[in-house]
Amino acid sequence: MTDYSKIIQKEPFISVAKTANKLNIKVFVIGGFVRDLLLNRPGNDVDFVVLDSGIDFARHLASIFGKGAKVRYFKNFGTAMIRYKNWELEFVGARKESYRTDSRKPIVENGSIEDDQRRRDFTINALSIGLNKTDFGKLYDPFNGLDDMDKKLIRTPLDPDLTFSDDPLRMMRAVRFATQLDFNIEEKTLEAISRNKNRISIVSQERIIDELNKIILTEKPSTGFKLLEYTGLLGEFFPAFVQLKGVEKINGKGHKDNFYHTLEVLDNISKTSDDLWLRWAAILHDIAKPITKRYDPKSGWTFHGHEFIGARMVPGLFKKLKLPMNEKMRYVQKLVRLHLRPIVLAQDIVTDSAIRRLLYDAGDDIDDLMKLCDADITSKNEAKVRRYLKNFQLVRRKLKEVEEKDRIRNWQPPVTGEIIMETFGLKPSKTVGEIKTTIREAILDGKIHNSYEEAYPFMIQVGKEMGLTIVDNRHMPGTTKNTTPSD
Ligand code: CTP
Repeated sequence: MTDYSKIIQKEPFISVAKTANKLNIKVFVIGGFVRDLLLNRPGNDVDFVVLDSGIDFARHLASIFGKGAKVRYFKNFGTAMIRYKNWELEFVGARKESYRTDSRKPIVENGSIEDDQRRRDFTINALSIGLNKTDFGKLYDPFNGLDDMDKKLIRTPLDPDLTFSDDPLRMMRAVRFATQLDFNIEEKTLEAISRNKNRISIVSQERIIDELNKIILTEKPSTGFKLLEYTGLLGEFFPAFVQLKGVEKINGKGHKDNFYHTLEVLDNISKTSDDLWLRWAAILHDIAKPITKRYDPKSGWTFHGHEFIGARMVPGLFKKLKLPMNEKMRYVQKLVRLHLRPIVLAQDIVTDSAIRRLLYDAGDDIDDLMKLCDADITSKNEAKVRRYLKNFQLVRRKLKEVEEKDRIRNWQPPVTGEIIMETFGLKPSKTVGEIKTTIREAILDGKIHNSYEEAYPFMIQVGKEMGLTIVDNRHMPGTTKNTTPSD
């Protein structure tokens, strides 16, 4: 039997215990901290239940900590939070009624510790340790949370229908903990999630996406997505993703199941990157496959243009899911749009101009794009995989060569709009844009080099072909007054 008193014989618990004894108030450590302590990964966020006012308790404790402690009181909720050193300590009164972190209702206090434990989400989160003289280090476990820890089970302390109706977000939390901790969800609890899935609609999308992102950031996010799909929760808030599931067959020819393929890509990328947004790009890379799916008797199943249509779907999906509508969204959109480019390149002869175009379009996200493409190879045909990976090596080598030679990444063409306007006496107009594009295309195609010396005469030639006349030649290369553009 573990002696918990030894484990908590340190700060901040010693000071909490001192306060408890001085005020003669019962106090317990509870929740995620205890769970994680038993999993040998103690954190710095600690929840305490006080069988009295959490606010008064925190006030006394803060005075013991002294100047370094920052206290915040949430009078309406009867809770208080102290930040001290790297600790974040939260004090709440014991609750008889449902426990919700975001509840707008005033808290019903004056319950016993067991009352409080029974209204928590899962048995493993309801474990608590006493901090008073008489029970310092004693584990309170009325719902067999310790047993569930050993069995690696997520189970609700009460009838799951009741626990989930207290706060339907707990259904997402069950999946999140199962994925994070590699636990199973106990059968009755799992059945209750399926039964109550549509109750998730009363939870704000912000809280849902918070949990989903935590699932996505685990080591093996597919576990969570499979549970979300199995229980039907996924379809409640992200139906487009469920649409990827299934295999259609015509004349005995089927396509791959894009739901499971996407999850494999997501797991693959999670091995090489911790970045939430690269993981989101993996989730959404094939999102338009269901709507672009066609069957052609000659070539079989096709998903033409799914990368472009998918990219166009990204803002709407981000908005609905309450993901940020900022540069993160544009990054995901870009990766979805470009996700086939390196693959197409690897199948073709890899020309310098194709590489330059890819570098120009991907910019600084080229490395992430290549990672996504690697992750996208989920074929079971080993010869095929080897061939792809070999071609990707070639694409990577070429990318490096071309980048060193032409420095296209984040590149601005050497001739600016001002130079074009001054040379031909033009006002800002479509013509200026057209000349700029023609120069850029010529460089990307390798017709001219990425240098001012070649771009300037090319600009003159383009202008002349458009019937423009030169009114100012001070930008001509070699002219003393010429403006040297930065590359
Ligand atoms: N809790 C609950 N129901 C919720 C949210 C939280 O019963 N919907 C309880 C659980 O006892 C939980 C504790 O409040 O352990 C703290 O919640 P939170 O900080 O959200 O989660 P942790 O369990 O600490 O886990 P993590 O820090 O990984 O989110």
